Amino acid sequence: MTRTIGVALLGLGNVGGGVVKLLEDNAAAIAARLGARFEVRAIAVREVDKAKRVVDVDRRLLTSDVDAAVRRDDIDIVCELIGGTTLARHAMLAAIAAGKHVVTANKALLAEHGAEVFGAAERAGVDVYYEAAVCGGVPVIRVLREGLASDRVESLHGIVNGTSNYILTEMARTRRPFADILRDAQALGYAEADPTLDISGGDAAHKLAILVNLCFSTTIDVAAIPTEGIDIVEPIDLDYADKWDYVIKPLVIARAHGDPATGPIEARVHPALIPASWLLADVGGAKNALYVQSYALGPSLYYGAGAGMLPTAMSVVSDMIEIGRNIFARVAGAPRPTRPRPVQPRAAMALGELRTRYYLRFGVHDQPGVLGRLMTILGAHHISIAQVVQDGRATGDEPVWVVVVTHEALESDVRAALSEIDTLDVVRQPARLIRISGEVSPA
Ligand code: HSE
Repeated sequence: MTRTIGVALLGLGNVGGGVVKLLEDNAAAIAARLGARFEVRAIAVREVDKAKRVVDVDRRLLTSDVDAAVRRDDIDIVCELIGGTTLARHAMLAAIAAGKHVVTANKALLAEHGAEVFGAAERAGVDVYYEAAVCGGVPVIRVLREGLASDRVESLHGIVNGTSNYILTEMARTRRPFADILRDAQALGYAEADPTLDISGGDAAHKLAILVNLCFSTTIDVAAIPTEGIDIVEPIDLDYADKWDYVIKPLVIARAHGDPATGPIEARVHPALIPASWLLADVGGAKNALYVQSYALGPSLYYGAGAGMLPTAMSVVSDMIEIGRNIFARVAGAPRPTRPRPVQPRAAMALGELRTRYYLRFGVHDQPGVLGRLMTILGAHHISIAQVVQDGRATGDEPVWVVVVTHEALESDVRAALSEIDTLDVVRQPARLIRISGEVSPA
C-alpha cells in the first residue's frame, strides 16, 4: 500500500497554485522518488468564495480558518505560502506548536523572525525548510547547507530579485518606461504583492540576510543592511554603462573580513555597474544567480529561474519530499538544523569603510572651470579618477552631465566629496552615485 503524507497549504496564490499543479503533473515521479504520495487535505485562503483561482481545486478543501487547518491530525506538513510577517508568523508558529513540519517561501519572515521560528521548531522537534525563500527555483540553500558544508565562503555576489533584474534588463534592451515594464513583471507573476519591496531592494535584503546566516553562521539585522533600490538608475546611466562596457545589475553582496570565524561581515544591496564580460552580466530577465567565492572550491555560479509559479513551487515540493524522507527515515525533527548553529554574533562592516570603485554623475551648469572644480574636490578627498566625460552642450536651464568613474576609493571619502560638490553654485542636481562591482571572468 502506498504511504501518504498529509499536506496543508496556507495560501493559494501564484506559488500555492504552482504546488497544486506540480503535485498533479509530477505525481508519478514524486511517488517513485519518495515511495509515498502527498495528499493536499486543506487549503487555507482568505476568501473561500473567490470566483477565479490560479488552479482548479476541490472546493471542499478550502477553508478560511488557518488555525484549524494547521492543527488537523491528518496533516504532517504545512506549507506557508501566505507571505508577509503577520498572519504568516502566527500560522507558522501555530503549525510548529501543533507538531507539524513546515515548508515556507517566506524570506521576510525568516529574515526578520528567523531566531523565533527556528527556536520554536527545535523545541517542538519539527523541521523547517525554506529553499523557495531565496532564488526561487535555484537550489542555493541546499548548495550552501550541504554542497559547500565543508567549505568556507569568502564572498558572494547575487542577483536574487527577479523583478528588479527583469526591469533593468528590459530598460537596457528597449528603453521602455519603468512603469510599463513593472506591469509586465507583475503579469508574469514575478513581483511581490507589494512590488515596492522588489524595487526598493527590500526583498533582496531579506534574501541576503538568509544567505549571510548560511554562509557566515551569524545573524544580521536586516534593517541595518545598506539597501538601495533600482529606482536610482535612470536611462542615461544605462547609456553610459553601455558605452563603457558595463551592465547595471541589482546585486546583493556579502564578504567576510578579518578573522574567518569572527571578523566583521560586509553586506549590501544596491544596483551596481559590473563588467559586461563578467558571468553575472549575462543573467538577464527574471533569472537569478549566485556567484560564490569559497576557500576550497574557488568561484562557483548557480543560475536559474528566481521567480515564477512553477520554479518556486518546485523548490517547495522538493522540500516536502526531503521532509517526507526524514519522516520515513525517522529522523524528522532530529537535531539536524536547517540553519547553522550556534549562531555567532559578528560585527557588520560600516558602509563608510567600503573600498570600491564608483560611477558618479553630476548635473552642472555648462560654464568654464566647472569640470576643474569638481575634480579638485574629488582629489582633495583622495579620490583618483579613472575616466571622465562631459557630453554635449546644455541649453537654457538644462544641466550638462559630467560622468566620472573612479579608481578604488573609500566610501566615506566619496560621500564627503559629494556633499561638498552638491553645495556648489554651479550644481543643478544632486550627484548620483552607483557602485562598481565584480570581476572580469577568466577567459
Ligand atoms: N518578487 C520576488 C522576485 C519573487 O522578483 O524575485 C521571488 O522571491
